[in-house]
Amino acid sequence: MHDYPSYADHRGRRIGVEEEAAVLRVLRSGHLSRVDGVETPALEREFAELMGAAHAVAAATGSGVIHAAVAALDLEPGDEIVVPPITDAGSVIGAMAQGLVPVFADLDPMTGCLTPASVEAVLTERTRAVIVVHLFGGAADVEGIVELCRPRGIRVVEDCAQAYLTRTASGALVGTVGDIGCFSLQQSKHITTGDGGLLITDDAALARRAALFTDKGWPRDTGERTHLFLGLNYRMNELTAAVARAQLPKLEGIVADRRRAAQAWSEAAHAPGIHVAPDVGRHSYWLFPIIIDERVAGFDNRRLVETLAGSGLGASAGYLQRVLYDNPLFTERRTFGDSGWPLTLSERVHPHCPVAEHMVGTSLVTLAINENFTDAEIDSSAAALRSALGVAADG
Ligand SMILES: Cc1ncc(COP(=O)(O)O)c(C=O)c1O
Repeated sequence: MHDYPSYADHRGRRIGVEEEAAVLRVLRSGHLSRVDGVETPALEREFAELMGAAHAVAAATGSGVIHAAVAALDLEPGDEIVVPPITDAGSVIGAMAQGLVPVFADLDPMTGCLTPASVEAVLTERTRAVIVVHLFGGAADVEGIVELCRPRGIRVVEDCAQAYLTRTASGALVGTVGDIGCFSLQQSKHITTGDGGLLITDDAALARRAALFTDKGWPRDTGERTHLFLGLNYRMNELTAAVARAQLPKLEGIVADRRRAAQAWSEAAHAPGIHVAPDVGRHSYWLFPIIIDERVAGFDNRRLVETLAGSGLGASAGYLQRVLYDNPLFTERRTFGDSGWPLTLSERVHPHCPVAEHMVGTSLVTLAINENFTDAEIDSSAAALRSALGVAADG
């Protein structure tokens, strides 16, 4: 079995002398905290510039910046926030901690993303925000969702944890279309600091409120020791920020190299009933998703993953074990003690998203792609995929 590079260790990461120098620079300075630090503000400036945004805010995790983004919207407990059922829990847990009710909308069957129509189908007079996840590195139709939401005063937060430098069909960078864009620096992401998060926005008031939220609501720049509202401590430390600054210039190359492997896999996946992710704007391939039309292909996602076993390719049937709303957090309302809060604030019946359930149960396979595949590894992995699709179809 071939041992392909993966994000789990050094072979699948671009961590080198630049990151080593960054860590040493901070250690030798003796100042490791964001408070009065220089690296974290510099990272925020550099990320905002890279993304063409007016402001960036760093935090300790991707889930933390999504929490800060939602907190910055300053909504009322019981307000509804539309979310997708196929995503990391980090997309929704911050909203729940703010007392918002997550309302699950169904997905586009090819991309696994929310659509304007699926969002519109679940809007009520309590809907105040939408979290649009650009799943696996492919762009959702976030422009269409913003067009639907803006006239209704509904805010749009883009979760780009899996989608650095992804572009929409019209060429916009994801994260810059909605009110706030959120990114993760967790181990498996395009660039990493182990854990970490960044958000961008053009709205100075949202940026200010998100930044205060990550530091206990404490406006340190005014010289006052006061707490303006309920915030948490999600500060990113200087070591993390310095490593992130070294990772940023590598992003373009990482996405380009993932796209090269994805091109070969897309060609290898030409088979009846097999669809690869549409690459209409710019897909950044955090994972390589395959959608199986099992009536045409004659097999489902579990069968393809079985036939890939032994190839060395990391493959998952459905990406998640179950859609997000089928976890105990929702089915048993395991939130704050036995209260079930904030889910009890909604009259909503148990969500049913048939497309999402079909993707997880039957049609979706995700393959682990990596920027450090050699040319020979791209060829051998493409051949393994082609052969697995043939074996699955034969029997
Ligand atoms: C789509 C998505 N949203 C949110 C998160 C949460 O990020 P983190 O793990 O940095 O908290 C992740 C990744 O883990 C993710 O993939």
